[in-house]
Amino acid sequence: MAIKRILAATDGSKKSMEAVEKAAMIAEEMGSEVELFNVIEPVTLPAGMYPVGMSARAAITPTWVTDYYDEYKKEHQNTLEKSYKEIKNKHKDLQVSKKLVEGLAATKIVEEAKEGDFDLIVVGARGLGFFEELVLGSTSKLVVDKAETPVLVVK
Ligand SMILES: Nc1ncnc2c1ncn2[C@@H]1O[C@H](COP(=O)(O)OP(=O)(O)OP(=O)(O)O)[C@@H](O)[C@H]1O
Ligand SMILES: [Mg+2]
Repeated sequence: MAIKRILAATDGSKKSMEAVEKAAMIAEEMGSEVELFNVIEPVTLPAGMYPVGMSARAAITPTWVTDYYDEYKKEHQNTLEKSYKEIKNKHKDLQVSKKLVEGLAATKIVEEAKEGDFDLIVVGARGLGFFEELVLGSTSKLVVDKAETPVLVVK
């Protein structure tokens, strides 16, 4: 199997950085290119945060929400940039690109793999989530479930 393009999904967590490093090692070995991929997941406000009688849809978005969202977006850009620098530092000649999209992480990873004609998806087993006893997080689980592309889950 030729592995020309590798999709390395990163959320900035320790495990995802290990996954990115594995992707880079495989890419070096196989002469593949790597795309670092980060997804900004939607933030939803708890129901109680809207004025009484007003649905979430009808509520005017307060500025602190938009400010927060800008910050949130910036954090994701930083995460991606950090992964990029780390991989480029260790693997200078590697062909690496980066992409940031908005949506549900697993859905976007699966779509990107298909649309971008990737040969391999690399994800960490776990990410930034809190439930430490789990072996797989919901993103890695869904990616394994839904992807039509081979998936490497780094444990
Ligand atoms: N927003 C994201 N963008 C890109 N890749 C992601 C994103 N979230 C998770 N991943 C990828 O999926 C891997 C597993 O993360 P996952 O979200 O499944 O675990 P978790 O955060 O521990 O659990 P959960 O999100 O279910 O609480 C990460 O190591 C990373 O490779
Ligand atoms: Mg997660």
